[in-house]
Amino acid sequence: MTRSTATTQWHPASWQSKTAQQQPKYADNQALENAVAALSRLPPIVVSWEVEALREQIAAAQRGERFVLQGGDCAESFDDCDSDKIAQKLKILLQMSLVLLHGLKKPIVRIGRMAGQYAKPRSADTETRDGLTLPSYRGDLVNRPAFTAVDREPDPSQLLRGYERAALTLNFVRALVDGGFADLHHPEYWNLGFMHHSPLKDAYQGIVDSIGDSLDFLESISGRPVHTSGRQEFYASHEGLHLLYEQAQTRFIPRGQRWYNLSTHLPWIGMRTAGVDSAHVEYFRGISNPVAVKVGPGMNAEWLQALVQTLNPNNQPGRLTLIHRFGAGNIERGLPELIQAVRSLGQTVLWICDPMHGNTESTASGLKTRRFENILKELELAFDVHEEQGSRLGGVHFELTGEDITECIGGARGLKEADLARAYRSQVDPRLNYEQSLELAMLIARRKSVRGNS
Ligand code: PEP
Ligand code: CO
Repeated sequence: MTRSTATTQWHPASWQSKTAQQQPKYADNQALENAVAALSRLPPIVVSWEVEALREQIAAAQRGERFVLQGGDCAESFDDCDSDKIAQKLKILLQMSLVLLHGLKKPIVRIGRMAGQYAKPRSADTETRDGLTLPSYRGDLVNRPAFTAVDREPDPSQLLRGYERAALTLNFVRALVDGGFADLHHPEYWNLGFMHHSPLKDAYQGIVDSIGDSLDFLESISGRPVHTSGRQEFYASHEGLHLLYEQAQTRFIPRGQRWYNLSTHLPWIGMRTAGVDSAHVEYFRGISNPVAVKVGPGMNAEWLQALVQTLNPNNQPGRLTLIHRFGAGNIERGLPELIQAVRSLGQTVLWICDPMHGNTESTASGLKTRRFENILKELELAFDVHEEQGSRLGGVHFELTGEDITECIGGARGLKEADLARAYRSQVDPRLNYEQSLELAMLIARRKSVRGNS
């Protein structure tokens, strides 16, 4: 390849020689420099051996031995860094992973869009309301959502607040997981909370009981508790959008002689910043984490091949995940070309379906929403297209929350457009609520256990 990035020296700031898209414009450069310098001195949020463990699990998912569940908020908010909300989010992800484990008969790699999902790409730099134009809200890492000049001004101190909340969130998640939150012997962690009257209750309870029975059986024949035999694992991921933040958390690990982004286990590149010659790709090519890229309409074979070769020149197992997000109406047309493009390189990637971002629409009253039926449809088509192409769908990516919110239409309870106003809380994209999330997991699991796994 003759591409300049393949030949130039990489270092954590080498992306700065390119024009970075989607970066905030700070008024006070000195304050920004100070915040980035402070961030660079703080301890990392994750450690390199966890990052390597995740890379190996993604490699196993590439071989069909595991399945990835990645999910969480579109954008975490600093206000939501509270114990109930974090525990609820962890709980729905664990419950979904249990249902998927039961249906797919393979271990689930659990990855939150959590503990650092604070920076958002926006379609415009500014927003105008009633004649007043202010900077767009770019996530709590940058500014605040309220529509005032003070709140919308990018504030470098938010970088430090974001780092702190990411660390607090992951610290709590680790403690819950280590303390047995994911242990099936504690049925109180597995109950359906406010979903007592859910249409899904019986089917879900059947799965929990069946896994509980299997565990009891295994423990009685082995004479020891199953849950002590392996630690439950949970990984963090976020869009690596704000490059100064990511750079500040990039550390050289002498053992292995490699650079890692230690702000998260799995950073990903969003659709809007995935240009082959982009600053984001330049930054990502040099870190040793497993990395993901969002792909969708508008991406062609040549572009994807250049990305794959730049980000994973040695075809390292587990290194590269492609998260496709075409929309239910476009996936059959768009995905086959991308699968063939990767295959013709002789490269292995993990394919994950994000059925959220290609299915966003606006209601007549201007709310962003997504229809459960379109989300499910895209997922089903994703399994089908991969099967037809002799490929494998190795995971799913959702925007969800463990709360009883009303942002997406449909699901077993039949949420209608008119219901959305009741509990619409997202500042950015609409998320599946607790019940809709669990229902999706059950529908995937049921479909796969009926049709068999490849
Ligand atoms: C997101 O995941 O919230 C997002 C912005 O997605 P995409 O880059 O796929 O549009
Ligand atoms: Co989103």
